[in-house]
Amino acid sequence: MTNLRPQITADAAAAPAGISFAKDIAPLFNATDIAHMKQVTRGTLDLSVYNDVVVYASQIYSRVSSGSMPPPPSKAWTQQMVQLFAGWISQGTPP
Ligand code: HEM
Repeated sequence: MTNLRPQITADAAAAPAGISFAKDIAPLFNATDIAHMKQVTRGTLDLSVYNDVVVYASQIYSRVSSGSMPPPPSKAWTQQMVQLFAGWISQGTPP
């Protein structure tokens, strides 16, 4: 995977302080996202589970910032959602 650090840092600069998984990140994933990704990864990526999202954080950031996930007909993430996720990574993935 290419070095995403500079891009993550740039996006995180626009994010608010005090981001948490429970309050800010978990609500970014809807039921369709959670069901499909559990199936596609045979249960290794449950987008509602904190530890799974931490392990896949760089891959998730890469996919939502490029717009390849969620795939159509789901709507791509807004820039604000991508910046929030980048901010969470930069703040050390608080639970
Ligand atoms: C925000 C929501 C989503 C995120 C963050 C996400 C993230 C990811 C990630 C990280 C992978 C690579 C997994 C791996 O290599 O082990 C992936 C693959 C995949 N996802 Fe998603 N996904 C999302 C929503 C969806 C939805 C809604 C669908 C189906 C309708 C979907 C279908 C797939 C499929 C088929 C693959 C395997 C093919 C590929 O690598 O492109 N995903 N996704």
